[in-house]
Amino acid sequence: MNDTRSLVLIVDDNATNIDLLVNTLKDEYRLGISKKGETALEYAAKYRPDLILLDIMMPEMDGYEVCRRLKENPSTQAIPVIFITAMTETVNKTKGFTLGAVDYITKPFHAAEVKARVATHLALAAMKVQLEAQNELLERMVAQKTRQIQEMLDGIITSMALMVEIRDPYTAGHQQRVARLACAIASQMGLSPKIIEGIRIAGLLHDVGKIRVPVSILNRTGQLLDAEMDVIKIHPRVSYEILKGIPFPWPCARIVLQHHERLDGTGYPLGIRGDEILLESRILAVADVTEARSSFRPYRPAQGLEAALAELRELRGICYDATVVDACLAIFAEGEFRFECNERPATPDFGEKLLPSYR
Ligand SMILES: [Fe+2]
Ligand SMILES: [Fe+2]
Repeated sequence: MNDTRSLVLIVDDNATNIDLLVNTLKDEYRLGISKKGETALEYAAKYRPDLILLDIMMPEMDGYEVCRRLKENPSTQAIPVIFITAMTETVNKTKGFTLGAVDYITKPFHAAEVKARVATHLALAAMKVQLEAQNELLERMVAQKTRQIQEMLDGIITSMALMVEIRDPYTAGHQQRVARLACAIASQMGLSPKIIEGIRIAGLLHDVGKIRVPVSILNRTGQLLDAEMDVIKIHPRVSYEILKGIPFPWPCARIVLQHHERLDGTGYPLGIRGDEILLESRILAVADVTEARSSFRPYRPAQGLEAALAELRELRGICYDATVVDACLAIFAEGEFRFECNERPATPDFGEKLLPSYR
C-alpha cells in the first residue's frame, strides 16, 4: 500500500541531530536524510519533499546557500524550508527569512516544538497548494465565461448590423469597413485598446438606426428630395435610441448619435461643434465619409479612394478633426490599410449630402 504521509527531508551534518529529529518525526512522516548541501539539492529535485529541515552550519555548502539554490529552482522553490540553528542572533534568523525560509528551530531541540512547527508548515503549504489550485480553476472559469460573453456580444452586434444591412444591397459591409478603418485610425493616433474596442463596436452599429428609413429611400437612384433627406437624418437618433439601453462600458449610443456631426456645426442631428463632439465620433465621421466616398451609391458611381482622401485634405480642420484626418491620410500613405477588394458595395450614407459640393 502506498505511504501517503508527508515526506520531510532532514539536512544536517551532525549524526546526533539527525537521530534526534528522526526519532521525533518518524512516526508521523516519511523521512529523507542528507548530510551535505549538494546531496540535499539532488534529493529535493528528485523526490520533491513536502518540507525541508535545514541545518545552517555545514561544511562545503552551508544552509543559506542550499536555501538560495532551492528557491531559485522552479521545481523546488515552493518547498517550505525550516532552518535549524544554534545561532540565536537575530541577524542570522533574518537572513534565513530573506532567503525564503518559512521558520526556524533553535538547537537544542524540543520534540514538541519540532512536531508543532513541522505540522503547522505542512498544513500551511497544503492550504497554499489548495488555494492556488482553486484560484487557477476560478481563473479558467472566468476566462471561459468571458470568452462566451464576448462571443455572444459579437454575435448580437453582428445580428443587429445585419438587421439593417439586409434591407438593401448597398448597405452590406459598410459598417464593418467603417469600423475597421476607424480602429486603424484610432490605433495610428495611439489610443488605448479599450477605447479602440468601443470605437469598433460603435462603428459596427453606427447606422443601425437606418432600420427606420424606408427601403424605397435607401435604394432610390438620383438626387434625394429634401423631405427624403430629412427622413435619412433621423438615423443617428434612432441608432442612439436602440443602443442607449445597452450597458456598454463605452458611450456607444452617444458615439453613434454624433457620427454625422461636423466640426463647424454643419452636421446633424445636434449641430454641435469642435470638442463638443466626442473624439470617437470624430474618428467615426472620418472613417464613414472615407468609406462612403470610395464606394458605389445608388445615386452615383464610386468616386474612389483618392477622391475621398482629397476631400479629407480639403475639409481638414473645417468639417473633420485635423488630427484624425492626418492619422487617416498617414495609414493610407504608408499602405497600412486598404478596403478589401472583395468587400461588397457599401450602404448609402448621405453624410456627404450636407457638403456644398454635393448639393
Ligand atoms: Fe450614418
Ligand atoms: Fe455610415
